Amino acid sequence: MFHMGWFIGRGFSVQAWNQPWSGTIGVDYMQPDIYIDLVRAMERASFDYLMIEDGSFMPDAYQGTPDWYMRNAYGVPKHDPMPLVPLLAQGSSHLGIIATMTTGFYPPYLAARLGATLDHLTKGRIGLNLVTAHNDRTAQNFGLEQHYEHDLRYEIADEWVQVVDQLWQSWPPDAVVADPETGVYADYRKVHPIDFKGKYFKSRGPLNMPPGPQRRPVICQAGISPAGREFASKHADTIVARARGVESCKRYRDDVRARMVKHGRNPDDCKLMFTITVVLGETMEEAKAKKERANAALFTDLDTRLAQLSFLSAVDFSKFPLDEPLAEVKTNASRGLTQLMTSGTGKSTLREMITDPSSGGLDFVGTPDSVAAEMGEIAQEMGGDGFMITEGVTRRAIAEITDGLAPALKRRGLIPTGYQHKLFRDNLLAF
Ligand SMILES: Cc1cc2nc3c(=O)[nH]c(=O)nc-3n(C[C@H](O)[C@H](O)[C@H](O)COP(=O)(O)O)c2cc1C
Repeated sequence: MFHMGWFIGRGFSVQAWNQPWSGTIGVDYMQPDIYIDLVRAMERASFDYLMIEDGSFMPDAYQGTPDWYMRNAYGVPKHDPMPLVPLLAQGSSHLGIIATMTTGFYPPYLAARLGATLDHLTKGRIGLNLVTAHNDRTAQNFGLEQHYEHDLRYEIADEWVQVVDQLWQSWPPDAVVADPETGVYADYRKVHPIDFKGKYFKSRGPLNMPPGPQRRPVICQAGISPAGREFASKHADTIVARARGVESCKRYRDDVRARMVKHGRNPDDCKLMFTITVVLGETMEEAKAKKERANAALFTDLDTRLAQLSFLSAVDFSKFPLDEPLAEVKTNASRGLTQLMTSGTGKSTLREMITDPSSGGLDFVGTPDSVAAEMGEIAQEMGGDGFMITEGVTRRAIAEITDGLAPALKRRGLIPTGYQHKLFRDNLLAF
């Protein structure tokens, strides 16, 4: 059996803007309705969690202006996912809900307090996707000229997690008495300051509220570089990973598991979820035709992938010649993803790279039953923990995945038919 999740790669934004089947998304994406439809459907499908991407900058790398990004609603608008979390929790009862938070610019005390508050509100179903933020534009919104050097960001993140963890631990489980007989709510002698003094952060503590049912929200990480993997192997309960093909997935997983052992952790305590795309049809021919149409569009719309690469790397990809060999692109932004989508394609010129039909992860095409069978075989082969759907959120995609693919996976016994536990982490670690 494996775990399943859905990664909303666009964040709390205009989902699948200007795509067929996206309804009135341009004017109502900021309401919770479509996300509530999604979590209800995911729960019916017995999926483990939803993960919402986030970032705090106006992208402008492609052609040096925000024009392409604003016209195409890519990376902007982007609303804060945190207030959406309790609304989604009200619309579900067992699904894990992970929202992205940056260790680069979120003060640890506020982060610990927000995480604990959301853990209470969701009754133990919150997770935090900890990212270091990758763009100078983000750094400039928080008072820096440019972002910290790539690996230094992870060093800072490492200390950030230590502070936040200590704050969550500053109230031991028996500190809250809540006994009306004695009139004592909490025993002050048990709650202690943390007096954290590190290289990057200081915090006195304690937290001014007790931690939630999970005590420590589920920690998620989504990074590719060695520094990112090292960070994840120390702290994460789950990793959303992108790797090209089964062999790369295997290598990624072996690497993270070895790093976890080095840090004294049981490698089964972190669930590695690989991103996938799924093109479904009622027949194989229909699914293949759909995929071919999408592949053909890559040749007529070069802008989209060029702008996406510029978004990830903060380098203007409109400046490179399309038909000459592309040298390795150096970036202080998202190094792992930039490499994956350029030299990682194994192609030589930029045009070949951006018209490569692969998503950079695992791609499936077929009927619900044939895709379920293939996912089962791949999971067996790589020994992986699970998969993350990355489809743009439309109600059609929700139905195809949760009412088409998920029942086929259940019929084959590949995913569970319900939830064993109340808390997110317990369900994640159940198998
Ligand atoms: C599947 C996936 C999801 C990601 N989601 C986010 C996100 O929500 N916000 C963000 O700033 N970066 C996100 N990233 C980027 C990474 O977290 C990281 O910031 C970036 O890849 C730079 O680190 P790296 O060089 O270690 O890969 C994501 C990466 C992957 C592979």
